[in-house]
Amino acid sequence: MLEDLGAAPSGAIVVLQACAHNPTGIDPTLEQWEQIRQIGFASGNLDSDAQSVRMFVADGGECLIAQSFAKNMGLYGERIGALTIVCTSKDVARKVHSQVLLVVIFACRDDPCPVKLNLIAGAYRTEEGKPLVLEVVRRAEQQLANDLSCDKGYLPIDGLADFNKLSAKLILGDDSHAMEDNRVVTIQCLSGTGSLRVGAEFLAKHHEQRVVFLPNPTWGNHPFIFTLAGLSVQYFRYYDPQTRGIDFQGMLEDLGAAPSGAIVVLQACAHNPTGIDPTLEQWEQIRQIVRSKGLLPFFDNAYQGFASGNLDSDAQSVRMFVADGGECLIAQSFAKNMGLYGERIGALTIVCTSKDVARKVHSQVLLVVRPMYLSPPIHGASIVTAILKNSDMYKDWTIELKGMADRIISMRQQLYEAIQARGTPGDWSHIIKQIGMFSFTGLNEKQVRWLAKEYHIYMTYDG
Ligand SMILES: Cc1ncc(COP(=O)(O)O)c(C=O)c1O
Repeated sequence: MLEDLGAAPSGAIVVLQACAHNPTGIDPTLEQWEQIRQIGFASGNLDSDAQSVRMFVADGGECLIAQSFAKNMGLYGERIGALTIVCTSKDVARKVHSQVLLVVIFACRDDPCPVKLNLIAGAYRTEEGKPLVLEVVRRAEQQLANDLSCDKGYLPIDGLADFNKLSAKLILGDDSHAMEDNRVVTIQCLSGTGSLRVGAEFLAKHHEQRVVFLPNPTWGNHPFIFTLAGLSVQYFRYYDPQTRGIDFQGMLEDLGAAPSGAIVVLQACAHNPTGIDPTLEQWEQIRQIVRSKGLLPFFDNAYQGFASGNLDSDAQSVRMFVADGGECLIAQSFAKNMGLYGERIGALTIVCTSKDVARKVHSQVLLVVRPMYLSPPIHGASIVTAILKNSDMYKDWTIELKGMADRIISMRQQLYEAIQARGTPGDWSHIIKQIGMFSFTGLNEKQVRWLAKEYHIYMTYDG
């Protein structure tokens, strides 16, 4: 060990198991740890057996620590841990942290004004500005807490089987032929983002065409997710600033010019950030061009139920593509429609052309997930499954969901009327024409900065 560490190039990362080494069960003695410390850097696992790690931290050098609460709290299935990066100075620590966060989020967080408004995140808030926990979710959680047969064991790599089946049914419909033909692969993932990332990693490994086309504009995280997975990102026209509506002709032209096999990300409904969706006739034209050009559609389905208040209506775009028998991927999230933001619960569905292909795809997706996070968390999946499985709870959920969607529509109307009542110049009808949680207001960066400075209202700089 000392010889190999001694021969490693300067700056190389060395992974050290802090204690209870897996699989040998053999740890260095404290004296041996001291000798290792004199050679390099640590990555380990903290609890009462923390001496190895503390020895490295005490010398003032850098190290990374991957911490897990699976074993020492028995929280295997909750997937809870932390990454600690010990830096050489406060300044370095700030830079390491801030690279991950946007400047505007910091500005909002650090604003002491009690009436500040954070309109950056796509999260539903109550009249009091608080996150809403649905009644039906509370009931499901009570049910789980009272059920002593529920444990915290690891889920399989692809998650909870019932959750996967019910999630696929929710987006594909009760009578999905693709599901009947067993050519649908669904795996539980870490909400919508995790589903997109697993899908992107899978495609980067196995799809022959490495180009992905995103709508311009799109959710700010999309380009990062696909680029970091190793795909090359391009854009198709989506928004027309003149009409503040969809640039449908531009979209068809760009998709028509995309190379065969290219991946196309389509937001299933309630487009973020524009709030503008194609009509059903337009979706049909998009489907035809996607299929005729041999493009691969990857649906981002983060807002099912939030656009119209109806789960089936909001699934029509996806179902149209699945009905033609072709392939597609769907990233599904329960963050918004069940208010389970922090539970990180979602699913990746891959619709294949045959049962045989689906079997192969499934085994390859498992190989993508295992080195990423081993298996997904159990709690959110259990809540969603309890609700989707029980017809009374399901019905109550749809009522609460409709309540949220209706309130969004009424907020848009109120905002529009207030703007009109003040005689604000310009046409603001896009506020009520756009749908879902997002509005592309048409405000520019200067105006957005002014709103933050004068009124403590924080929005993304693109309005
Ligand atoms: C279009 C879109 N996709 C995916 C997500 C990811 O959501 P989550 O990872 O919380 O499910 C969001 C979140 O705002 C979104 O707007």
